[in-house]
This record gives sequence, C-alpha cells and structure tokens, in this order.
Amino acid sequence: MKVTVCGAAGGIGQPLSLLLKTNNLIDELALYDIVNVFGVAADLSHINSNAVVTGYQPKDKSDQSAIRTALAGSNLVIIPAGVPRKPGMTRADLFNINASIIRDLTKNIALTCPDASILIISNPVNSTVPIAAEVLKKFGVFNPKKLFGVTTLDSVRAETFLGQLIGESPNSVKGKISVIGGHSGDTIIPLVNITKSISDKVSNFSDKTYDEFIHRVQFGGDEVVKAKNGAGSATLSMAYAGYRFAENILQSFFSSTFNSTYIPDSAFIYLPGFQKGELLVSKKLNGVEFFSVPVALKNGEVESFVDPFEDLTITNKEQKLIEVALDGLKKSIDQGVSFVKGSKL
Ligand code: NAD
Ligand code: LMR
Repeated sequence: MKVTVCGAAGGIGQPLSLLLKTNNLIDELALYDIVNVFGVAADLSHINSNAVVTGYQPKDKSDQSAIRTALAGSNLVIIPAGVPRKPGMTRADLFNINASIIRDLTKNIALTCPDASILIISNPVNSTVPIAAEVLKKFGVFNPKKLFGVTTLDSVRAETFLGQLIGESPNSVKGKISVIGGHSGDTIIPLVNITKSISDKVSNFSDKTYDEFIHRVQFGGDEVVKAKNGAGSATLSMAYAGYRFAENILQSFFSSTFNSTYIPDSAFIYLPGFQKGELLVSKKLNGVEFFSVPVALKNGEVESFVDPFEDLTITNKEQKLIEVALDGLKKSIDQGVSFVKGSKL
C-alpha cells in the first residue's frame, strides 16, 4: 500500500507521517512538501517499520515532477497542506491561500493517481472538499466514494469533552455518539442521544451544561488557536484524528469497517454521489450537497453511510443546530465550487 502525505513537513504533516510510519500495512510512505521535507523523510526512515519513506520537494514553482512522482501509484493521499489560523481569524479567512493549494494538488491527483482515496484536512474543509470534487469532475475522474473531508477531530473532541462530563473514559464514548454537518463553528453538530447509557446521562444535563458542551465542540479549534497564541492551530490532536481516519481507510482494504453495534467515524462527503444521498439532500438538507455523516468503508471507499435522520435519533435541539449549520454550509460550498468554475486548470 502506498500513502502520500502532501504538506508532510508541517505542524500536522510531521506527527501524522510519524503515526503512518508505525502502520505496517503501508509499504511506501511518500512525503511531499514545498519546504523542509527531506529532513523529515530522513528522520522517519530510521524507524524500523515496514514502510519505505521517500521525500519529494519541487526545485522551483514550475516543477511538477516532485509532486507527480510522490503521487504516482498512491492508494491513499492525505492533504494537510496550507496555512493554519492565527488568533482572530476564522477558517474561512484561509480560503484565499488554501483554495489554490487544494485545487493544484487535486489536479495532480487527477492526472497521476485518480483512483486513490483522498483525505482533505486543509481548511476551510467546508470549501476545500467541494474544490477538490469540482477539480476531479473537470478531469472526469470524480469518485464521490473516495473523497473525504476529515472531520474526525470534531468527534475526538466530542468524545473527550462528553466523557469528562459524564464521568466515563473518553475512549469508551467512541462509536456511541456522532458528529455530523461540517467542520467550522456552528456547522459542527454533535449528536449525543443515540446510545441509551449516554443519552440517559445527557438528559440530566442542565441547559447551560448542554449548551456549553455543544459550544466547546463547535469552537474547540479556537481554544487551541488562542492557546498557541499566533503559533498555529491544532496539530497534534489533528494528527491523531487524521491517523484514526486514515487507519479506517487502510483497514477497509482488507475488510469492511461496517459494525452493527458502533457508529463509524464521520467524514464530509458529496451525498448526491450515493443512491440514498440525493433524497437526503433534497428532503432534509435544503439542497446542501456536502455533509459529514458516519461512513462505513470497504476497499478505501464509502461502502454505506448512516443517514442521521433515518438511522439515528435527532432531538429537537439538535434539529435546530442542523438548521443553523445548513446556512453556513451552503455559502462555503458555493464559494468552493465557484472558485474552481472561475479557475483555469
Ligand atoms: P503548517 O503551516 O504547520 O503546515 C502546512 C504545511 O503545508 C507546510 O509545511 C507548508 O510548507 C505546506 N505547504 C504549503 N503549500 C503547499 C503546497 N502547495 N504543497 C505541499 N505542501 C504545501 O500548518 P498545519 O498546522 O499543519 O495546518 C495545515 C492545515 O490543516 C491548515 O489549513 C489548518 O487549518 C488545517 N487543519 C485542519 C483540521 C481539520 O480538522 N480538518 C485541524 C487542524 C488544522
Ligand atoms: C481545528 O478544528 O482545530 C482546525 O480546524 C484548526 C482550526 O483552525 O481551528
């Protein structure tokens, strides 16, 4: 199995690449960045796990050979390339820089390894994933089952914060709650009334405790941005979360990740690409086509997804959160799609 990380020398890229290097399902780990990547590759290459580590960096702005060699033959491409937030910024403020980075990287994926599963970490995820989809469509190689916006950090946070509130190990909450929607402030929707043992405890929360929990999951990223005080946003917890989702993908090449007891991790996907997705978009999501939903995986692609409205319990409060989220999502998705429509590829 070959995995390529684009943005591998960055705050997320380095610890994510370290975690990937420990996974013996990977034979080849290709690290691509526009700076400092050879040192990262040399360092990781001394670890005694299976993966052969290689580093790729362009010689100059016009050099496309490094990225294309890094991507060639890749089964899984993970993208944490781009700028992170500083205090006072929203994720949408990153659009101007990161939109073209994602557009250009996705173009190279389309030309080099169109069958790869693609995980997009770069923000604003609510726009960068539609950008990638639009580019892949333009090249006639869009497979909605293989394009994922990584929203796992929202689930990781929800599990941690809820576990702390209900006095259970955060790890034991995994698979018993779900986070859907998008990846930005009030587009993030935690659903915590799914498993009886947990919903019984949540039902004892005061309105204030519940609202504070929701706010902390929705704005957890701001907590880290503020604490880092200009030195970036979440990197280590993101590497952990990105690896958790990447591991799901890698394992899915050997067996389906479907489990009738636990809810799988969510990812931000293009719903009209699925039979039951179109109906969900028109009936429940006011036409919003990208949405994070729990996904069961097989062979590196979505095998099935959980329809939150059909398969999970949504409370009135959660329904209100969804209505708010849809407005924000629509704007971010449209911005991403228009950006590619107006771009020369
Ligand atoms: P960083 O600045 O530390 O690292 C980014 C890396 O990308 C750098 O090494 C940079 O050289 C590289 N890069 C820039 N342009 C590139 C290109 N064209 N090709 C390849 N590499 C390129 O930033 P970070 O903290 O690692 O964050 C990266 C992105 O991830 C940001 O957009 C951030 O907002 C986002 N993020 C997303 C989530 C999520 O939950 N999805 C969580 C945390 C951060
Ligand atoms: C996060 O949720 O931590 C990331 O999206 C980074 C950010 O900008 O908050």
